[in-house]
Order: sequence, then structure tokens, then C-alpha cells
Amino acid sequence: MRTCQINPSILSADFTNLERELTRIHTADAVHVDVMDNHFVPNLTIGLPVVQRLAEVSSLPLDVHLMISDVDRWGPGYAEAGAASVTFHAEASAAPIKLARDLRAAGAKASMALRPATPIEPYLDMLPELDMVLLMTVEPGFGGQAFLDLVLPKIRRVRRAIDGTGLPIALQVDGGVTRETILRAAEAGADVFVAGSSVYGTEDPAEAVVTLRNLAARTPVSM
Ligand code: DX5
Ligand code: ZN
Repeated sequence: MRTCQINPSILSADFTNLERELTRIHTADAVHVDVMDNHFVPNLTIGLPVVQRLAEVSSLPLDVHLMISDVDRWGPGYAEAGAASVTFHAEASAAPIKLARDLRAAGAKASMALRPATPIEPYLDMLPELDMVLLMTVEPGFGGQAFLDLVLPKIRRVRRAIDGTGLPIALQVDGGVTRETILRAAEAGADVFVAGSSVYGTEDPAEAVVTLRNLAARTPVSM
């Protein structure tokens, strides 16, 4: 068994009662908070004031996923708000190395996300600046989309590159993670899994988290 984490996305939760929705995923490793600006992605969710309140009331660490433009300017504020990790999109950052350093300096883990069609290769030399890499397995913007199997080879390439650094960099996948697709993502080398609809869409979200984590932990990485 290896160590895997399940971070449910509150994008699929009831936005009128987020505090209660957090208690329904008490078995999770962290809560994944999707921030969208209707500019970097064609959808709008929540922003800094809500994330600040979530950080105050949540007993789970906040895994904040910023799908916003001009993230070099706005990203560090989410670290200052108390997020345990802040993920920015490589496609939205003009200076990703500076931003990763700013996030760490503000007390958060620094994480960089790539859309499905964005290659990792231009960013390999900056892996030591990061605590996590997020590979999108759907086009970002909406929950409930189908997992893109075409990202599996990139998951394997990033797994190998992370292993090559010898650093404890997490490899997160986000989008379309279900009891079925988590097996393929885990086998390819992911170790942190975001799941929205496959957790909040069930009768017992806390139990769904445990089931997903067990499935991933029992799946050996196969290069
Ligand atoms: C999509 C978001 C995801 C989303 C995943 O842009 O980044 O975190 O909530 O939802 P599911 O698990 O339903 O694909
Ligand atoms: Zn997300």
C-alpha cells in the first residue's frame, strides 16, 4: 500500500452551506477549493473573501486551485489567507518561478497546474521550486466532465521527472476522477486525487473518500 490523498472539490457541494458541506467530507486529506474568474476559464465561482472564511472554519487544510488570470498578482493573497497549498496555472503566470517563491514565502505550499494540452517539458527545471504539480484531466472550468485518458502518458512523464529530483513533490490529478479512472491515474503515478461529483454526488461523501483512497493506495505505480 502506498500513501495517497483524496481532496474532494467543493465545486460539487451546496454553495449555500459550505460549512456543513465540509463536515460531510471529514475523512478527506484536504478540501479542494476551485477559484474561477470567468476569464481564464468560462465559469465563475468564489474568490478571496470566501476562501478567507473557509480557512477560518475548516478543520481540513485548504487546497486552493486558482483558475484565474493575472495570478502573479492575486495568488499570494490566497497563501496569506491561510491556504495550505496554492495552485496556479502555468498558462496564466508571466513569472512562475517568482510566483512559486512568493507563495512559499507567504507560508503555503507552491503548486503549478497544467491544462491537458500543456506540456511539462518547458517547466522541468523549475520542479524544485514546487511542492506539487497538478495535471488537469479535463479542460478546467466545470465539474462532472469525463476523464481524458490522453493525459496518462504525461502523468507518467511527470512521475519519472519528480522521482528524478529525489524531492517530495506531490502529483495531483483533477477532473473526471471516479472509482474507475482513479485506477489508471494511480497506476500512471498520481498520488493526490481531486474528486468532485464522484464524492459529493453520492449518498455518503465521507465513505466515497475512503473507498477512493483505498482503491488508489492498492494500485502500484507501473511505468
Ligand atoms: C474543474 C475543477 C475540478 C472539478 C472536478 O475545472 O478544477 O476541481 O471540481 O470535478 P469532477 O471531479 O466532477 O470532475
Ligand atoms: Zn480543481
